[in-house]
Amino acid sequence: MKQVQKVLFVCLGNICRSPSAEAVFRKKAQQEGLLLKFDSAGTLDYHQGEKSDPRSIKHAEQRGYAMTHLARQIRQSDFIEFDLILVMDQKNLKDVKAVAPSGSFEKIKMLTDYKKSKDMDHIPDPYYKEAQDFELVLDLIEDAWLGFKAHHFPSARP
Ligand code: 4NP
Repeated sequence: MKQVQKVLFVCLGNICRSPSAEAVFRKKAQQEGLLLKFDSAGTLDYHQGEKSDPRSIKHAEQRGYAMTHLARQIRQSDFIEFDLILVMDQKNLKDVKAVAPSGSFEKIKMLTDYKKSKDMDHIPDPYYKEAQDFELVLDLIEDAWLGFKAHHFPSARP
């Protein structure tokens, strides 16, 4: 695979998990001096144009991450534009693969494929859940950042 430069995060609604991942990775990459581009999208168009869920925004802000994304649905050009498409759970994986052009499957991975010290194989949907579930989303994303950085940019400054 060519050097990763553009990463798309995908969840169901694009208002909780994937815009959180976008915000965390953007800030971490900036802090490391890595010139990467991030965006996020949903498999559904249900929340198209909406700001992220206020609970996700609040929990992210408490950790210093700014969430400014407006929700959108994944589109065909994403499979050309992005080097990596990182999904949150098995349903996202199935839904993204169902609309992916043949030849782009190797770009599509679970975000938790990059997990470092957390032992979860997906990022659970917090939408109908509690504050602690929004915290868990951020914990898992921050852990995945560590694995992502170690895998793709092993010589980045610590
Ligand atoms: P997300 O969470 O996929 O992490 O953005 C959800 C947001 C909205 C809905 C489900 C999950 N919804 O059913 O509207």
